[in-house]
Amino acid sequence: MSSKKLLFGLIAAVPVAALLTPFLALLLLRLWGSLLHAGSSDRRHAICAHVEEERKAAREQRRKSQDLGDDDWEKVENTASAPNGGVPKDTEWEGIVGFFHPFCNAGGGGERVLWAAIAATQRQWPNAICAVYTGDHEIDKSAIVAKVEERFDIVLREETVTFIYLTTRQFVLPSSWPYFTLLGQSLGSLVLAWDAFHLLVPDIFIDTMGYAFAVAFCKLLFPSVPTAAYVHYPTISTDMLASLDDQTGTRGIHSGLGGGRRGQVKRYYWHFFARLYGWVGRHIDVVMCNSTWTYNHIMEDLIHSIALTPQTSAARSRDNIILYIAQFRPEKNHSLILRAFSRYVHHLSHNSDPARLVMIGSVRANTPDEKHIYALRIEARELGINERTTFITDAPFSTIQEFLGKASIGVNGMYAEHFGIGNVEGLAAGLIPVVHRSGGPYLDIVVPFQGGEVGFHAETEQEYAEAFEKVAGMDGDAILAMRTRGRASSRRFGEGVFRDGWVKNMQELVRLQRKINPGKKS
Ligand SMILES: *[C@@H]1O[C@H](CO)[C@@H](O)[C@H](O)[C@H]1NC(C)=O
Ligand SMILES: *[C@@H]1O[C@H](CO)[C@@H](O)[C@H](O)[C@H]1NC(C)=O
Repeated sequence: MSSKKLLFGLIAAVPVAALLTPFLALLLLRLWGSLLHAGSSDRRHAICAHVEEERKAAREQRRKSQDLGDDDWEKVENTASAPNGGVPKDTEWEGIVGFFHPFCNAGGGGERVLWAAIAATQRQWPNAICAVYTGDHEIDKSAIVAKVEERFDIVLREETVTFIYLTTRQFVLPSSWPYFTLLGQSLGSLVLAWDAFHLLVPDIFIDTMGYAFAVAFCKLLFPSVPTAAYVHYPTISTDMLASLDDQTGTRGIHSGLGGGRRGQVKRYYWHFFARLYGWVGRHIDVVMCNSTWTYNHIMEDLIHSIALTPQTSAARSRDNIILYIAQFRPEKNHSLILRAFSRYVHHLSHNSDPARLVMIGSVRANTPDEKHIYALRIEARELGINERTTFITDAPFSTIQEFLGKASIGVNGMYAEHFGIGNVEGLAAGLIPVVHRSGGPYLDIVVPFQGGEVGFHAETEQEYAEAFEKVAGMDGDAILAMRTRGRASSRRFGEGVFRDGWVKNMQELVRLQRKINPGKKS
């Protein structure tokens, strides 16, 4: 039997097996995955060799243009100032990052995200290969790179970008699915994903166009490939579901279509689809959205859509947690925040839901920082707040995301902090900032926006405590408005924030990739 026939046999067998037993279906998917892996390995080697050649040529050219010797050039390349928010480059990782973007030549906002993501990836992982899966066959690499620079002012390194051409794009066009379009397109994206994987199985797979099903499919076929999705708009949202029952006609094109037998069918279908989408979402390792750090909320919204309470992520009730994310170093002044928190809980707070303080940060090994955090723990005990204070050192990414998603206040205690990307992260995640009245947080970040405040400033213990109490005393609408303004204002930091956020997410994916495939060089 030819391998193609075997593949089609597998495609047909999976749904049948899924009905019989999910376990068997999973087994078949894995088998299918390893066939795809084996089938595309020659092409993979060819791509790597080709990129290596182009890279050599490009280096040579740059070296010539700068008139440096080989060794000198190497030095320049490797010590060039850390390009992404101070994170040092990782020259060791040489994997292939697959970007699933079937319409990559469209030149819209979605493409901007794709190219900005690739540029950030290239700078951080200069030896990685960025493979773009696209359905645009007519494009030429050099032309695209020039166009991206001209149109978006994004400079790509041509030599480490490669295009993988898909031939089944018609399956995701809405016109191919006149009925049950959402579901049809999602199934169509599976065909497209299969098309992609049979050409090349990447080391990390990222969808940048919203084909969540393709990402989950990748995870099921290749458990060793970390996956991510960049969500511009969720395919189905709680708003859409809610609009079915709307009687005012003000909730978009589906407003009030939930009546009658047809409406009932639509309702069942959408709810079924929302569940499926939530299930799919849980198979993706990292989900990002426009304001990168809010991705958690999107996903939770999706998963919670089963409960069908339409609410925005900002409105979701948060826990009474004050969050301080900063390295455990003296200048971050954790001690000031501990004392302020103690004053707040012992003298000011009348909240029935007792507040908690969570301090998350890294501790540099073999430095005085290790003693420092020990002293902070003792101080918390002396202040009588140790039961309500949690110190988390070297937290994994997921823990930070979790707290950004559920805390109420993001605090910062450092005097004259230069900028503090952490403050922007907090703002973008919908936390109410209470920051030191100095430096970047005061001058640039927590400043009025759209005619309203986005947070509070403080300097002394007492002022911090009062700010905590103010936030606790705000009513639901006021706090929602403030969170919404804060999140909107965080977009001012656009490009840089995007890049840093992207690198953070990618770091997580690379870490996963290394963890799952130890010892493998790429
Ligand atoms: C998300 O990005 C899309 C396109 O990139 C843009 O049109 C949309 O307004 C953005 N949404 C938010 C909430 O920023
Ligand atoms: C911490 O803040 C307090 C109060 O503003 C200040 O007196 C102290 O010098 C600060 N400590 C550090 C290390 O910055």
